[in-house]
Amino acid sequence: VIGESVALRPVPGMVAVIVEGSVREVAAGVVIRGGRVLIAQRAHPPSLDGLWEFPGGKAEAGESGPVALRRELHEELGVTVRVGDRLDGEVELDPPGRAQGAGPTLLRAYPATIEAGEPRATEHRALHWASAEDLARMPLVDNDRLWIPALQALLRE
Ligand code: CDP
Repeated sequence: VIGESVALRPVPGMVAVIVEGSVREVAAGVVIRGGRVLIAQRAHPPSLDGLWEFPGGKAEAGESGPVALRRELHEELGVTVRVGDRLDGEVELDPPGRAQGAGPTLLRAYPATIEAGEPRATEHRALHWASAEDLARMPLVDNDRLWIPALQALLRE
């Protein structure tokens, strides 16, 4: 659980309404270098084996998305990154067996800049620096496709 935000809003007859309960986050990193973006080929679960994703992972309890991403990219790629402002858009994931009353799990994407190290696939099958054209033709996991148009525009700048 990464945040329990309660916003106070004037509503007739009420003092406050809860607009967002606890949200769990999966943070994905968009690492751009030299007109290409880093994608990683998943090895598991079987349904995603062989598909490409923006590397990242689940935030642990009390961890923000950016902090989780920094940790995950260190674990998975062996690099130290600086995480930027989150990209527009998010995808609600459907974790099997979500606890009653628990909030949604959201996939969010953040730009990340490598500060130290060179990415190595320690948990993925392979890494690839993808061009705008690669993003269109390579099999990405469905969830990550949301960011393809924005990234293609960025890579073609
Ligand atoms: O490594 P960790 O177990 O923390 O997370 P993960 O297995 O990489 O991702 C958790 C969930 O987010 C899985 O259901 C992935 O399919 C999904 N995910 C995604 O849709 N797109 C990404 N770029 C990363 C994760």
